[in-house]
Amino acid sequence: MSLLEVNNLSKSFGGLHAVREVSFCVEAGTIHGIIGPNGAGKTTLFNCIAGSIRPVSGGTIRLNGNAIQDRPPHEVAACGIARTFQTIKLFSRMTVLENVMVGCHTNSRGSFLSGMLSLPFARAAERKVREAAMEKLAVAGIADLAKADAQQLSFGQQRAVELARALALRPQLLLLDEPASGLTMHETDRIGELIVAIRDSGITVLIVEHDMSLIMTICDRLLALSSGQVIAGGTPREVQADPEVIRVYLGDE
Ligand SMILES: Nc1ncnc2c1ncn2[C@@H]1O[C@H](COP(=O)(O)OP(=O)(O)OP(=O)(O)O)[C@@H](O)[C@H]1O
Ligand SMILES: [Mg+2]
Repeated sequence: MSLLEVNNLSKSFGGLHAVREVSFCVEAGTIHGIIGPNGAGKTTLFNCIAGSIRPVSGGTIRLNGNAIQDRPPHEVAACGIARTFQTIKLFSRMTVLENVMVGCHTNSRGSFLSGMLSLPFARAAERKVREAAMEKLAVAGIADLAKADAQQLSFGQQRAVELARALALRPQLLLLDEPASGLTMHETDRIGELIVAIRDSGITVLIVEHDMSLIMTICDRLLALSSGQVIAGGTPREVQADPEVIRVYLGDE
């Protein structure tokens, strides 16, 4: 059984078929890339998997064999799927550490009320959350920024915070939507190394990215979408050499 099994997934906006009968599997322990021109349906596919968009009925999304296509985002997150966004979404009035602690809360016991009352077990839980968040900041290479205001960070640093927050959820599957967009070459190399390290730590990664050199370097498998449909799937080399993929990309230039 694959970790993630997407079968016959579709989503329309009005008359536009953003995702059309998409099927593919993601094996545990791999980095699985999704490529395709602008508007191919990559983010819509991610939104369906993460539960923020409900696909057309009939399609299924299975995590470890369990159907999740009808679940809301917080339930999908609790099942073990974390994500980052194409457009960075941080809480600008919080510190870096607080932004990452928000990601940890699904994993910690203790209610909002017990937190308010500052009951001893809530304080202990808070301390654990803080430690877990610091650990993820260290993994993302930004532990020194813990106390900084999120809105004062560079673009690359903000991407690292988002990644740390997603990791704080301790996901089985991490969805990354264009993690290298807007980054310098040096930052892109670093995020590539980080994604490989994340996979090697046991987290499966599904990544949408336009940076082909990054995709070809880090991905174990690739899926190519065009106009909402799967046009190729396989190893990065197979997909790169696929005539339809070449046609779609060259036709795009
Ligand atoms: N909420 C929405 N309402 C209407 N149309 C939408 C909505 N979201 C996406 N679309 C349309 O669906 C199609 C697929 O969009 P999507 O954002 O999934 O593409 P993408 O592959 O992520 O593109 P990009 O590489 O530019 O991020 C596009 O034509 C887009 O305009
Ligand atoms: Mg997109």
